[in-house]
Amino acid sequence: MTIHFIGAGPGAPDLLTLRARDLIAAAPVCLYAGSLVPQEILAHCPTNARIINTASLHLDAIISEMQRAHEAGHDVARLHSGDLSVWSAMGEQIRRLRALGIPVSVTPGVPSFAAAAAALGAELTLPGLAQSVVLTRTPGRASTMPEGESLTNFAATGATLAIHLSIQNLAHVTETLTPAYGANCPVAIVFRASWPDQQIIRGTLGDIEARLDAGITRTALILVGPTLARDLGAEDFEESCLYAKNYDRRYRPQTAQSPWANWSDADE
Ligand SMILES: C[S@@+](CC[C@H](N)C(=O)[O-])C[C@H]1O[C@@H](n2cnc3c(N)ncnc32)[C@H](O)[C@@H]1O
Repeated sequence: MTIHFIGAGPGAPDLLTLRARDLIAAAPVCLYAGSLVPQEILAHCPTNARIINTASLHLDAIISEMQRAHEAGHDVARLHSGDLSVWSAMGEQIRRLRALGIPVSVTPGVPSFAAAAAALGAELTLPGLAQSVVLTRTPGRASTMPEGESLTNFAATGATLAIHLSIQNLAHVTETLTPAYGANCPVAIVFRASWPDQQIIRGTLGDIEARLDAGITRTALILVGPTLARDLGAEDFEESCLYAKNYDRRYRPQTAQSPWANWSDADE
């Protein structure tokens, strides 16, 4: 049988993929990462499914549940918040399952940084301002950061930073980033993006700490960089070449001499 690792998205139940919904509906066992997977998503489980919140389980116990289901001939839907490619602990589970010879599949989900950007109506890569997004975090009680992955190093790039798991380190974040980005650099904090109680706090590196509600202590993303300015007008960033009127491209050759003039889909 198969352990299906499934990105359950940022919170809104309708931000689940159709593939995820179908896998959940077909699996007699569902293991889900407690606090961030909403009950509406568990409603897709079959009636009488064994549904286990893994928030209080250690890795051995989680793998035992999966092994038991596998031996009983049951598929498992394993739900983690957002997407599985970042901070999901999927890697260590798959390593154990491979050693046990248990097959796995991976279904992506909407990551929280994308849901936060959507809540802000923000494009995180604007021409001339930033062309990279760094998904990062600050060290926590359970996780150190590899040498080299410091906020100071990322700040030197000027990229848009999407800082996870760090709302309780906001003072450290602003202090570390201010020398590179400046105190006026826009910051947006999105708490529980896509949930009914979503909150958005906008400010700058200089004042965001004072603007943050003290009640927001988890499940928030800190987005930093010039692309986060709310009032970006056409004068503040360049337009992309992609849609420029006279940009010569495959789908819009400008002259008969264009290398794209005789191109057709069949050439792909
Ligand atoms: C353990 S990580 C999980 C990340 C997840 N795999 C993803 O794709 O976004 C949890 C952190 O992700 C961020 N996060 C997850 N869901 C969020 C949401 N709905 N709104 C804002 N931040 C969220 C927060 O920074 C939180 O501390």
